[in-house]
Amino acid sequence: MRSLTGIFLDTGRLEEIQKYHALGIIRGVTTNPTILAKEGVRGGWPGIEERCRHIAKLVEPLPVSVEVTTNDQDGMLEQAQRFVSWAPNINVKIPIHDVGGGTENLRLVHELETRHDIRVNVTAMMSAQQCLLAAMAGATYVSLFGGRVNNMGYNACQEIRRLRSLLDAFGSPAKIIVGSTREILNIVEWFEAGADIVTAVPALVEGMLVHPYSKETVRQFLRDAAKLEQVEAHRQPERLSEQGPRLARVPA
Ligand code: E4P
Repeated sequence: MRSLTGIFLDTGRLEEIQKYHALGIIRGVTTNPTILAKEGVRGGWPGIEERCRHIAKLVEPLPVSVEVTTNDQDGMLEQAQRFVSWAPNINVKIPIHDVGGGTENLRLVHELETRHDIRVNVTAMMSAQQCLLAAMAGATYVSLFGGRVNNMGYNACQEIRRLRSLLDAFGSPAKIIVGSTREILNIVEWFEAGADIVTAVPALVEGMLVHPYSKETVRQFLRDAAKLEQVEAHRQPERLSEQGPRLARVPA
């Protein structure tokens, strides 16, 4: 049976990475230039390097994806080699093609994986067919942007199912990452559809974990536990809260 990898936290925020890593529920971290800029990385390359090294150290040996900041072929190769020199658990995110649709990026992906022994996460993909080609080029990870696929009116689950069956049929070792998660439900439904990894921002992971009725249930147990601890031997015990209502009483 296929063994899934799990959730990669899609953030560059150190406190969040530390928190969710300590819970033992993440299996890696993904970043991109938008995330790093939004989360306060400043100071040019020294700032980028410092944050990426810090993230990699926090979750070592779990994988951390760092994305190239250029579409220039020589520039991407140089950055890829630089990123992996920062930490052994860093892998390099390369977009499927350049802004104009130029197809040279896959040549670089192939070269990085086969000649430079660098693990690549091919990113910004919107279809199973793009991911299939990235897997054929030798990418370790192929990232389908599920939320953006849905936003364009296509069906991310359908693309994931198609990609899963194609990669299995070809015996490809590439791992399917589905990112661009928009709803808590996406996480489980994309795993069910065939993703090995789903990326999620911290707020979605928290939403997956915390349930209002669990809060109410824990509150009831604590209330009754306090009564239980106060009961004296000669007194009738106070009536404990009911075992639980038939219908969920969700607190406001
Ligand atoms: C995944 O690796 C990407 O960083 C991310 O999920 C992109 O998400 P977005 O569509 O919210 O930018």
